[in-house]
Amino acid sequence: MKYLVTGAAGFIGTNFVYHMLEKHPSDLIVGIDNLSYAGNIKNLKKAQENSNFVFRQADITDQDAMTALFKEFGFDYVINFAAQTHVDRSIVDPGIFVKTNVLGTQILLDLARETGVKRFHQIGTDEVYGDLPLEATDQFFVETLPLKASSPYSASKAAADLLALSYNRTFGLPVTVSRCSNNYGPYQFPEKLIPLMLINALNDKNLPVYGDGMNVRDWLYVEDHCEAVDTILHNGRDGEVYNVGGHNEMHNIDIIKIILKELGKPESLITFVTDRKGHDLRYAIDPTKIHNELGWLPQTKFADGIKSTIRWYLDNKDWWEEIVSGEYREYYRKMYENR
Ligand code: NAD
Ligand code: TYD
Repeated sequence: MKYLVTGAAGFIGTNFVYHMLEKHPSDLIVGIDNLSYAGNIKNLKKAQENSNFVFRQADITDQDAMTALFKEFGFDYVINFAAQTHVDRSIVDPGIFVKTNVLGTQILLDLARETGVKRFHQIGTDEVYGDLPLEATDQFFVETLPLKASSPYSASKAAADLLALSYNRTFGLPVTVSRCSNNYGPYQFPEKLIPLMLINALNDKNLPVYGDGMNVRDWLYVEDHCEAVDTILHNGRDGEVYNVGGHNEMHNIDIIKIILKELGKPESLITFVTDRKGHDLRYAIDPTKIHNELGWLPQTKFADGIKSTIRWYLDNKDWWEEIVSGEYREYYRKMYENR
């Protein structure tokens, strides 16, 4: 079997490549990434030692490059992780989100259709449902909810999901979509909450908490997400959406306090800053469908996952020091200075 993994040098794409090489040792995994700011080829160094892995630097919005790639390999499966992914960046510059997340997905869908793939899996996000009230703890995201995206990021992801599902209905392309909650784990780019707070704390820098820190996210260890995608890819039903999450809702401020405690750093580093525009209050997945239909359940408890994530960042200082000393410095200044 031949798999195309787009966004392979990003956070989840990298973890997924390693997952697939281990779980499907006789299959070929082709990873592509345009190596934008969030993609790091060094993530895939070990994978490149495996003869079942091929990496190509390529952009999903480049029609000619994608056409040549599909022609060269004749993929059985396409898993589309490639995207612009940071809500804060989408508030500053929505255009590249529409181009990458919508146009890029359409180019891949057309090629998947033309070349007759067995399955096109679109990596979606729970953010397409908008948010839930903080106090309504009996309400969860189910697959049948209408889409109500709040940010340009989530709106572009919602458009991509709908396009993918429309290719199933209109053209009969075998499509599945997963909508996962917030991931954490190794290789996450330091612009996102957990690595940002971890790295700032290690450097004794202020921890910029948006608003009052009471927003809720539903955290899932990245390997559990990879296993869910693998399961849907092989056993999911065409044209279906599967929510992926493990009932692990936490207030941002509580996550930050756990990180500080693990690192032995003082809570005085916490600084409350101006809230994100349109900031979603609460995300909470109902994973009943994927559990009942496909038997998937998360395997990693948050208490263990956060410890191994912190360990990974402590053991891989070179990885993040190179990032935070590069163009990220300018990003951080613009996003957080005078906030
Ligand atoms: P990421 O930003 O770490 O990785 C995205 C990767 O896509 C990067 O390597 C980037 O270089 C690449 N990319 C961007 N534009 C591209 C283009 N035009 N062509 C080729 N590659 C391109 O993000 P992530 O957290 O790994 O997210 C991966 C996917 O999972 C995204 O689709 C995201 O919406 C979805 N998702 C993420 C989370 C989360 O908590 N991180 C949760 C649910 C869903
Ligand atoms: P983030 O990691 O950007 O993921 P998402 O917004 O896609 O869920 O943010 C997670 C939560 O943390 C979100 O409620 C915003 C908050 N946050 C902060 O309080 N400070 C920060 O510096 C960042 C990056 C996020």
